[in-house]
Amino acid sequence: MNSQAPIGIFDSGVGGTSIWQEIHELMPHEHTLYLADSKYAPYGDKSQEEIIALSKKNTEFLIHQGCKLIVIACNTATTNAISQLRATYNIPFIGIEPAIKPAALQTQTKSVGILATQGTLSSELFHQTADLYTNSITLTEVVGKGLVPLIEKGALESPEMTQLLQKYIQPMLDANIDRLVLGCSHYPYLIPLLKQLLPNSVTIIDSGEAVALQTKTVLTELGLLSSAEIRPTLQFFTNAETTTLALLLRSYLEKIIIEKRTF
Ligand code: DGL
Repeated sequence: MNSQAPIGIFDSGVGGTSIWQEIHELMPHEHTLYLADSKYAPYGDKSQEEIIALSKKNTEFLIHQGCKLIVIACNTATTNAISQLRATYNIPFIGIEPAIKPAALQTQTKSVGILATQGTLSSELFHQTADLYTNSITLTEVVGKGLVPLIEKGALESPEMTQLLQKYIQPMLDANIDRLVLGCSHYPYLIPLLKQLLPNSVTIIDSGEAVALQTKTVLTELGLLSSAEIRPTLQFFTNAETTTLALLLRSYLEKIIIEKRTF
């Protein structure tokens, strides 16, 4: 495997670009290839078999493009499919899981909220992690139904989004949370709105930075970190419209390539 090969990244749609940003900021000389599987979003309501099949399709596309490592920038795909992917393909995978551990260690009120998809909250992997860290705290789990389709449309600050978020955070506020875990890679795009709706006492935690750090650690261990100070190729492929990708990545438009592709 060649250290100049791209890092492959996939998500059910546009949300994993929040993880791509962390990866690119930490490793600015890495070539990256991001797949937004928006045609099949959301994954969160699908069966585990469907999520595994879609994750395999994305993985095969990225392997075919010569990627050196794959970041599954989707909590739903990680928690439902990462062990099957690791068992099937001979390429390193980095996954993303809800940051329950830091939230449980930091909470002062002993109460943590998590907003994630149905697919993540019902997965075995999520339950194993939650059981490990939440014995002595209250964990309020809420499914963010409807949030991903709105983000896919680019409707980040719509009245509908505000209404849904108000409804979803209410049971958490009733439980006196002081940490809110964002368990879906689409949700960091809701942080500005969430900050308006939450009291200052609630800290929002997501996993993007941890995933970028882990990606760098694994690339370094495998001798695959790009050593050249080059201007990288930063490609984004979507199988739906390019509009929302362009909106979310507007501050990078001069240096990235966004294309509609079939996969
Ligand atoms: N971005 C995803 C996640 O992290 C998937 C959301 C969805 O497609 O339902 O879970």
